[in-house]
Amino acid sequence: MKFVLTEEHLAVQQAARDFAQNVCKPGVIERDTNQTWPAEQVKQLGELGFMGMMVDPKYGGSGMDTISYAIAIEEISKVDASTSVIMSVNNSLVCYGLEAFGTEEQKQQYLTPLAKGEKLGAFCLSEPEAGSDATSQRTTAIDNGDHYILNGTKNWITNGGTADTYLVIAQTDASKGHRGINVLIVEKGMEGFTIGAKEDKLGIRASDTHTLMFQDVKVPKENRIGEDGFGFKFAMKTLSGGRIGIAAQALGIAGGAYDLALAYSKEREAFGKPISQHQAIAFKLADMATEIEAAKLLVYKSAWQKDQGLNYDHSSAMAKVYASKVAMEQTVEAVQVHGGYGFVKEYHVERLMRDAKITQIYEGTSEVQKIVISRGILK
Ligand code: CAA
Repeated sequence: MKFVLTEEHLAVQQAARDFAQNVCKPGVIERDTNQTWPAEQVKQLGELGFMGMMVDPKYGGSGMDTISYAIAIEEISKVDASTSVIMSVNNSLVCYGLEAFGTEEQKQQYLTPLAKGEKLGAFCLSEPEAGSDATSQRTTAIDNGDHYILNGTKNWITNGGTADTYLVIAQTDASKGHRGINVLIVEKGMEGFTIGAKEDKLGIRASDTHTLMFQDVKVPKENRIGEDGFGFKFAMKTLSGGRIGIAAQALGIAGGAYDLALAYSKEREAFGKPISQHQAIAFKLADMATEIEAAKLLVYKSAWQKDQGLNYDHSSAMAKVYASKVAMEQTVEAVQVHGGYGFVKEYHVERLMRDAKITQIYEGTSEVQKIVISRGILK
């Protein structure tokens, strides 16, 4: 057992750290306040090879491992979780799904521009009345010869307004339960596909989250990924990897807040010495460091299992439920260490605290992760 990062991992870490400091940090408060989509940051992520990190270079990707991907997401999330979720959805949900289960033609046509960062992807599963209970969705994809007719509404879709390529999960035959679900590649501009208003969110405000409407959208059969009825398993398998990305995001948010709290506690003086020298604050820092280290081990282990070809369904759920809890709790502590300054935007920790909350909700709530973990334990 080796607890050391390779030279390649360290190089990715440094590149992501530089990107976060030099490209993401300037303007991060304004983008959050004004809900401004990080266009320049996403463009540069593509140039860095970070939009298709794990994709085979023959499809325009960087051919890196999942640990490198987790490290990059972690570093960027320390500064800018809005940018990291855009990257995470494109990498783990869209590129992974196409590469693992798509046809050669689908990989050439759709995966390659997504992995190069020339186009952007979105993953469309959640619905107004089906979030956690993914088999109960109402969106239908009715078989009509050489195409499907897609009808329904999807919501909470990350990259909803800015994406070019949408993976839409829909019910073809409700009588077959989860085996009657398909996943279709839908392109922006297809007739009958409209994008609803952008959500005004608590956190990750610079990312765009939309409701999408599909009315009699004609989707060619060649746009279906996998065999007829594979859509639910496609979603579950893809989300298992997505959860590593969100766990890494939570880890980064917690780490960013800790770094700020540590630095502030060494500068700020009270009762004649830096507040870090008061046990009340020193013990908070000790708890933060310990919790973050524990989360890191879970996140990296799950990424390692994916790289080794081992099952990571349960470890990714454990990593996500734990890292997101740590992110929520430790960002609150970081605000507390900052006192009144923590409550104003200029000090960044209030944003990290708001951003942390979504990591307990999207790509499966903490409650869903506990369903996955407990089923694994009890089966
Ligand atoms: N890999 C492959 N197959 C899997 C799987 C996995 N990880 N998990 C389940 N399956 C298979 C099962 O083996 C089963 O197949 P068989 O019947 O052939 O054995 C089938 O799928 C159904 O499994 P379950 O009976 O366990 O399914 P369930 O209906 O009880 O659901 C659940 C389980 C864990 C609650 C699941 O519905 C779930 O994960 N829900 C949450 C969905 C989610 O994460 N939504 C987030 C939306 S995406 C998002 O947030 C993206 C974004 O924009 C940021």
